[in-house]
Amino acid sequence: MVSYLAVLFVMFIIFMFLSNVLIHRYIQREARDGLKQQSEYLKKVVNESFFNRRKDLKNNPELAPNFRILSRIINADFIIYNKDNRIILKSSKDIDQQIIYLMSQEDKSEYITYKETVTSSNGDIMGYILLFTKLKNVQAFQQSIVGTIMISMIVAILVALLFSYFIQRSITNPIKKLKKDMSSISLDEDYTFNPITTGDEIEDLYHGFKNMVNRLKLNVDERRRFFQNASHELKTPLMSIQGYAEAIRDGVVDGYEVDDSLDIIIHQSKRLKMTVDDILYLTKLENTPENYNFETANIVVTIKKIVKEFNKIAQDKQINIELIHSSEKIISQIDVEKFRGVITNIISNALRYAEHKITIAMSSDEGMYAIHITDDGVGFSFNEENKVFERFYKGKNGNSGIGLTIAKTIVQEHGGTIRAYQNQPKGAGFEIKLPVKLS
Ligand SMILES: Nc1ncnc2c1ncn2[C@@H]1O[C@H](COP(=O)(O)OP(=O)(O)O)[C@@H](O)[C@H]1O
Ligand SMILES: [Mg+2]
Repeated sequence: MVSYLAVLFVMFIIFMFLSNVLIHRYIQREARDGLKQQSEYLKKVVNESFFNRRKDLKNNPELAPNFRILSRIINADFIIYNKDNRIILKSSKDIDQQIIYLMSQEDKSEYITYKETVTSSNGDIMGYILLFTKLKNVQAFQQSIVGTIMISMIVAILVALLFSYFIQRSITNPIKKLKKDMSSISLDEDYTFNPITTGDEIEDLYHGFKNMVNRLKLNVDERRRFFQNASHELKTPLMSIQGYAEAIRDGVVDGYEVDDSLDIIIHQSKRLKMTVDDILYLTKLENTPENYNFETANIVVTIKKIVKEFNKIAQDKQINIELIHSSEKIISQIDVEKFRGVITNIISNALRYAEHKITIAMSSDEGMYAIHITDDGVGFSFNEENKVFERFYKGKNGNSGIGLTIAKTIVQEHGGTIRAYQNQPKGAGFEIKLPVKLS
């Protein structure tokens, strides 16, 4: 605010200085033009005999009327004198010989003058007409103009200041309200905002802020749920391990039961490690989405390789894995390792639930390719197909409940979609759709 005032003040001073100079010049020029015009009138009535007069003109009856009329037109002071510097006629009695001397001096700062040389028809100088007006008269006029400008400037500045004060208040008040909300908001409790209805960008800002807070709240809730679920997931196998270990130490179990208990402890430890690995992997995927290594790969070949790795387990379980693909080649840019993780998880889930058969069908068309993985197992319970991608969601026979969450994150990072559906006549189905990216 202070700097504004300083700028205004400096501008005011500069403006007043410039207008003073300009007006001064303008008025001087106008005054000189006026004098020149008036000298034209005087020139018309002077002639040779006029300059040769011996007597003061005032006392000459024949010429007097002419000049009396002229003196009504001419309002400046003037002297008419001949080449011997003798005054022939002057506008007022107070003007004396000395004034001619004064006028011919370099320093005319007290007067504005106009001097006209009068010549005869053959070019001889007969005398001079000198018109002058006191600078003081002109200055008074100038001061009154500058004074008026100054007063109107001051009034304009005051009005502008008043306006800007009110406009500023209408801007700062809602911003202050918003600032108060921002500093007192809590993400843990419900908070009622002071509504802002200014109808402009500040209101937009207010809505934007509210949206941001809501999103943050969702995020905080999700994190809280994640920690609750994660601790629950870790606690269950840990309690089991603790229980069996204590049973062995206290001699509650003996003989072959000890071996069984140890097997359970080992199994639960493995599960625990898998869950922790999954959680760490998902966290890494979510926190560093830039960590993808896209390379050109043949999807058909990649999936064939994965299926080969599952052959042994599938045979043991007497499950047949069938591959259907119309083309040997679907080339696209993928992060091969992460993509393998997606397919591996879906196939290993299917192996857990399938009765006899898993089908993997690949097709591509119009810049997209689709992979369907179906089995003939129990399929999903009511509405379960919509929940399986949620973090820690697991149904009967589930493990960590994170595998499909990881799959979805990776597929989305490839620009694709994944969904689960009921396979006909029975079992579960997963569809992955990805864009063919060539570079
Ligand atoms: N092929 C399938 N048939 C039936 N249910 C499935 C199938 N695949 C996944 N599910 C359900 O989705 C849940 C989540 O799967 P996932 O995220 O891979 O976790 P996890 O395999 O650790 O249980 C599973 O626990 C299971 O209930
Ligand atoms: Mg899984």
